[in-house]
Amino acid sequence: MASYDVIIIGSGPGGYVCAIRCAQLGLKTACVEGRDTLGGTCLNVGCIPSKALLHASHMLHEAEHNFAAMGLKGKSPSVDWKQMMAYKEDTIGQNTKGIEFLFKKNKIDWLKGWGSIPEAGRVKVGEEVHEAKHIIIASGSEPASLPGVEVDEKVVVTSTGALELGKVPKKMVVIGAGVIGLELGSVYARLGAEVTVVEFLDAITPGMDGEIQKTFQRTLKKQGLNFVMGAAVQKTEATKTKAKVHYKLRKDDSEHVLDADVVLVATGRKPFTEGLGLDALGMKMSPRGQIEVNATWETSVPGIYAIGDVIAGPMLAHKAEDEGMAAAEQVAGKHGHVNYGVIPGVIYTHPEVANVGHTEEELKEAGRAYKVGKFSFMGNGRAKANFAGDGFVKIIVDKESDRILGAHIIGPAAGDLIHEICVAMEFGASAEDLAMTCHAHPTYSEAVREAALACGDGPIHM
Ligand code: FAD
Ligand code: NAI
Repeated sequence: MASYDVIIIGSGPGGYVCAIRCAQLGLKTACVEGRDTLGGTCLNVGCIPSKALLHASHMLHEAEHNFAAMGLKGKSPSVDWKQMMAYKEDTIGQNTKGIEFLFKKNKIDWLKGWGSIPEAGRVKVGEEVHEAKHIIIASGSEPASLPGVEVDEKVVVTSTGALELGKVPKKMVVIGAGVIGLELGSVYARLGAEVTVVEFLDAITPGMDGEIQKTFQRTLKKQGLNFVMGAAVQKTEATKTKAKVHYKLRKDDSEHVLDADVVLVATGRKPFTEGLGLDALGMKMSPRGQIEVNATWETSVPGIYAIGDVIAGPMLAHKAEDEGMAAAEQVAGKHGHVNYGVIPGVIYTHPEVANVGHTEEELKEAGRAYKVGKFSFMGNGRAKANFAGDGFVKIIVDKESDRILGAHIIGPAAGDLIHEICVAMEFGASAEDLAMTCHAHPTYSEAVREAALACGDGPIHM
C-alpha cells in the first residue's frame, strides 16, 4: 500500500493544477486518472480542441471575407477535414503530454485507472488501495441528457462527438444557445454547414448582459446562423445518417420539425461522480448532484475536499484551476483564496464575448445605483484596420464611488481585454483609475480606456 499526503481524483484543470501546487508545497502527491491521457475534459474534449477548430474555421472565414479587401488575391483555401482533425489532435497531444511532463518534473505519481473512496484516507484504483492524508475530488462533469433525445455520438452528438465528426455536415441543428452551442455552431457554420440553433428561452447565453445578448445574436445571424427562440425540443428521431428534431414553440404550442445531418445537444453539463462511492461515505450532495463543500473546499466528510465542475459555481477551467491552487494551499496548512466575484467568462466566437462581475440586470434587481460607460470598436483605429469594428466595451461602475462593478465586451480579443478589468477589480479600482492609465496606441485595449473615460467626462474618439 503506497502512502501519500494527498491523492487527487481527476486530472482536469482542477486536478492537475492542484497536484502541481501540492507538490510545489512539499506534499507527496498522486493523481488518479481513468482516461488514457491527462488534462480532463478541457484538454481532451473541451477547451483545447474546440479552440483549435474555432481558430482554423476563423482563418477560413478571414480568407473568404477579408483577404481580397486587403489586396490579398487568389483562390480561397478549401477544407481538408482530415488534416483539420489531425491539427486538432496534434494540439490536444501537445497539451496532454505537457501535463505528463509537468507531473514528472514535480514528482507527482499518475495512478492510472478509475478511483473510488472506500473510506476517508483511502483511495482504491483497480485492485490497489492507497493511503492518503487528504483526498481531493476533481472528477469534473459530463453532458446533461435531454428527455426524448438519444445521443449516439454519430448523428445525435454531444460536444464530444461534435469535435470528431466524420465530415462537415450539410445541415446541423444545435439544441441550446449556450456557450457550447454557439462556439461549435460557429465552427460548422464557417465551414459551410447550414446551422439552426433551437433555444428554449427568448435570449441566447442566459445570464449574460442583455445588450451583449442582443448584439451577439445579431452578429451571429449576420454570419449565417439561424435561430429558433422560445422553443422546447420534444424529441429527436435518428437513422444512421439523418435526424429529425421535433420542437414546440412556447408562445403558441405549435409543433415543428427540423431535418438535420447532425444534431448537437448542448443543453448544459452535470457533475460527474459515478463510481466514487460517495453514497456509502454519506457525502452531502446538492439537489443538482454537486458535492457540497465549505469555504475551504472540504466536503461533509473530514479530510475529503472537492473542486472544479463537480462543485457549485461556473463550469469553467480557470475557476477549477483557482480552486485547485486554493485547495492545495488549504491542505498544506496555508490559506487558499478564490475571489468568486471576479471570474471572467469568455466565448471564443468571432467576435469574442467576455464578461466579469455584475450585469446591469443584476444591479437593477438589487436596486443599486450605477453608471455605464460604453465605447464602440468603430472608434478604435486598430479594430477598423483589422475589419473588427463590430462590438463594444461596456463598463459598469458604482454611481457614487466610481468603483468598477462589472464589464462586458463583445469585439476583437475580448477574452484578453477583459483581464485588464479583472485586475482593476481585484485592486478595487475605479473607472477613473483605468482612464488615467496610459494605453499604447494603436491597440484594442484603448477601447477599454475609452469606455472607462465614458464613465466620467466622456470618451475622446466618439
Ligand atoms: P474535468 O476537466 O472534467 O476533469 C475531470 C477528470 O477526472 C476527467 O479526466 C475524468 O476522466 C477524471 N475522472 C472522473 N472520475 C474519475 C475517477 N473516479 N477516477 C479517475 N479519474 C476520474 N472552460 C473554459 O474555461 N474555457 C473554455 O474555452 C471551455 N471550453 C469548453 C468546451 C467544451 C466543448 C466543453 C465540454 C467544456 C469547455 N469548458 C471550457 C469547460 C471546462 O472544460 C471545464 O470547466 C473544466 O474541464 C473543469 O475542470 P475539472 O478539473 O473540474 O474537470
Ligand atoms: P449552457 O448552460 O451554457 O447553455 C445551455 C443552453 O441550452 C441554455 O441557453 C438553455 O436555455 C438551453 N436549453 C436547455 N434545455 C433546452 C431545451 N430543452 N431546448 C432548447 N434549449 C434548451 O450549457 P452548454 O453550452 O452545454 O455548456 C456547458 C458548460 O460548459 C457551460 O457551463 C460552460 O461554462 C462550459 N463551457 C465553457 C466554454 C467557455 O468558457 N468558452 C465553452 C464551452 C463550454
